[in-house]
Amino acid sequence: MNLDKILLIHGPNLNLLGTREPDIYGQDSQDQLFKFIDSSFPEIKFIFFQSNHEGLIIDVLHEHKNLVDAIIINAGALSHYSYSIRDAIKVINIPTMEVHLSNIKDRESFRRKLVLSDVCFDTIFGKGKKGYIEAVRKLKDIR
Ligand code: DQA
Repeated sequence: MNLDKILLIHGPNLNLLGTREPDIYGQDSQDQLFKFIDSSFPEIKFIFFQSNHEGLIIDVLHEHKNLVDAIIINAGALSHYSYSIRDAIKVINIPTMEVHLSNIKDRESFRRKLVLSDVCFDTIFGKGKKGYIEAVRKLKDIR
């Protein structure tokens, strides 16, 4: 099956990439990260969306039902407690990959709990920006 269009969602504070704890999240700005992903897969159309607001992320998930082939989401801290984003991913029923730049298993204990993972196809963490590339490759493999 075709993987023509991917919605990539970033949650809270990821707009500050590049200046936010670069030792943990890397030196690239969000814009540089998006350009890196975009240029790695010229055959795929990416729709990039970032919000610091849970409800807006849910709205964008609903709006893209039937419009994209897959979703990649790094929901930031919402990944640890947002059951409403979890429910939205489940209801729209589009293959979804979860990505975290940092190694969430090796940080504060609250980051170990992931409430989106069980409705996502896979969760990739601790690989920095390469995690997004791996996410796209895995999506290609399942489709
Ligand atoms: C993050 C990890 C989360 O715990 C954190 O709140 C983030 C970024 C990551 O990409 O490693 O905002 O999702």
